[in-house]
Amino acid sequence: MRDYVILHVNGEPVRVTGDGIFESLSRFLRVRRGAAGTKVVCEEGDCGACTVLIGRRDGDRLRYRAVNSCIQFVFQLDLAHVVTVEGLGAGALTPVQDAMVRCHGAQCGYCTPGFVMAIAGMCEEEETDAARGITGNLCRCTGYEPIVKAANESFATQKRMDAVYPSAPILERIAEHERTPVRIANFFKPKTLADAIAFKSEQPRCVIVQGGTDFGVWCNKRNFVPPAVLSLDGVEGLSDISVDGRELVVGARVPLAEFERAVRDLVPELREIMDRFGSPQIKNAGTLAGNIANASPIADTLPFLYVTGATLELTGLAGIRRVAVADFYKGYKTLDLRADEIITRVRIPLPSDGDTLRLYKVSKRSHLDISSFTAAMLMRRTDGRIDSMRVAYGGVGPVVLRLGKTEEFLKGKAISAETFAEAGEIARGEIAPISDVRGAREFRLQLAENALCRFYYDACL
Ligand SMILES: Cc1cc2nc3c(=O)[nH]c(=O)nc-3n(C[C@H](O)[C@H](O)[C@H](O)COP(=O)(O)OP(=O)(O)OC[C@H]3O[C@@H](n4cnc5c(N)ncnc54)[C@H](O)[C@@H]3O)c2cc1C
Ligand code: FES
Ligand code: FES
Repeated sequence: MRDYVILHVNGEPVRVTGDGIFESLSRFLRVRRGAAGTKVVCEEGDCGACTVLIGRRDGDRLRYRAVNSCIQFVFQLDLAHVVTVEGLGAGALTPVQDAMVRCHGAQCGYCTPGFVMAIAGMCEEEETDAARGITGNLCRCTGYEPIVKAANESFATQKRMDAVYPSAPILERIAEHERTPVRIANFFKPKTLADAIAFKSEQPRCVIVQGGTDFGVWCNKRNFVPPAVLSLDGVEGLSDISVDGRELVVGARVPLAEFERAVRDLVPELREIMDRFGSPQIKNAGTLAGNIANASPIADTLPFLYVTGATLELTGLAGIRRVAVADFYKGYKTLDLRADEIITRVRIPLPSDGDTLRLYKVSKRSHLDISSFTAAMLMRRTDGRIDSMRVAYGGVGPVVLRLGKTEEFLKGKAISAETFAEAGEIARGEIAPISDVRGAREFRLQLAENALCRFYYDACL
């Protein structure tokens, strides 16, 4: 058992133990490592000023992804390599930094390291849609055009991180540590699922921290102090994403970015929703299991999981239990999850060729914004008649809702504008939204009605 975490920062190994592991990565970098190029503005994953690259083992190399360091904690970085703006070129100005200067991509410069790191992250992933790649970064004085230009000018020449920091020596240095679990105070990072379950049953109020994109905000903005923390990072067998017959099977540790890649061709409608989910930094860290367990009624993946009939594999002391996602929520943030259980996999039936699926997200901004209202509709039809229709709405109650009366009304009906207009009125009567900062009750009622009409015009003509 180790009583320290080991990480690399800009190529140098660092051991951290004791309370230091609960420090945010941005603070650790700026205060303990003097790497003050990593800026902090919002401390909740919204502005991207604190973006760094995190490299983790992927076979015999390190794979780097851009993440928000303000909502990562040092314990999440065990065995990882953190690259900050100071270490990007190991001393020299890199092509992306050079392009930011030439294209006038900075004025006050406060956001600039974050943009540089986000663009470097895109180069690692070979993503070249610059506007999309910087949706997680805000600039309040320069404007985005020069930054997009700088990104486009540097994609071809920016060096990949494994050319700057060869993976082999770093992987060699961490090899012996990879074999051991970590226990520091109330933090546990086991090597086996059995040990993870045993810990969770002994510490029922412990928080499983995966990407930490929800957890980090609670800590930074609500002063949340977890009674105990369980990391699944060392548990093998939870990082796979595969198609099993007509089901997509997603392991608990699969980052949302991988999930998005997998659904790109399999479920194009979901790909559009995933494109608007958070930002690249959020999707590189956050997981599907975390989105489900966080139980927000406006979580963007949930309506889709409801209408496709997705199920959760919950593993606990008694073995594996399967629960439909739609039955997992017993009330606001109340889950059908026993104290010893962990979500280990999500099984998603894939829509068939004859199915018509539409997903909607309504938010104030198109990207990096929490939804005001979400909807999923899955229809099966024969010759102009509806055989079956599933409708799920989010943001209209304490949990995502399946609209049973609306579904029943639509079954067997002829497909027409009138049918869907009438269905919209029934949908309005099935929900009880509240007014909050993201939208008034009446706005949400109208959206509930309009969404069905929109489905008709989008998918039935
Ligand atoms: C800036 C920002 C933008 C965001 N944008 C969106 C958005 O557009 N749409 C959206 O839906 N969400 C959004 N989120 C919320 C968040 O990113 C997602 O909910 C994400 O999927 C959480 O995953 P995670 O791995 O980071 O969870 P964590 O923060 O690690 O954990 C969240 C909760 O899930 C529990 N948990 C995690 N894994 C398991 C498991 N295997 N078994 C049991 N419990 C588990 C944890 O204990 C914790 O209670 C955003 C968050 C931020 C900070
Ligand atoms: S400080 Fe704003 S995303 Fe981290
Ligand atoms: S250059 Fe000032 S905030 Fe971007």
